[in-house]
Amino acid sequence: MREVKFYRCEVCGNMVALIKEGGGTLVCCGQQMTLLKANTTDASEEKHVPYVEVEDGKIKVTVGSVIHPMTEAHYIEWIALVTENKIELVYLKPGMEPKAEFVYNAEEDIIHTVEGDDEIVPNCEGQTCNFVSKEKVKKNFTVYEYCNLHGLWKA
Ligand SMILES: [Fe+2]
Repeated sequence: MREVKFYRCEVCGNMVALIKEGGGTLVCCGQQMTLLKANTTDASEEKHVPYVEVEDGKIKVTVGSVIHPMTEAHYIEWIALVTENKIELVYLKPGMEPKAEFVYNAEEDIIHTVEGDDEIVPNCEGQTCNFVSKEKVKKNFTVYEYCNLHGLWKA
């Protein structure tokens, strides 16, 4: 699963996505930036975990399973898709719906793992037709969202 690290400066609010890891320490306003931990489970009634549907060649994301507020004081700032070969980020504003759509390319964005010869299904969308196990077709992407009050979440 391809993932990306996000960091925030607790002084000025700068936020960065680490597009390539070098190993050094990220510093802003004279101090170490905070590595944001992405939450994956909602304990409260308010739902933040991105709700993801794949259909019609698109990855459709809604925050969350119950629609998150989009007021000036409390809203989803962005939704990001990370796949094997790309990062896409959609900015949102108060008053908008907490949703984003991304073009989904099965050839590039999803890894098909072939294992065994039982339960094989044809996969002929590309140039060559190979066979993949039904159980082993992996959707290899991560969806992140950032709430201005409740931080980073992923699915
Ligand atoms: Fe929130």
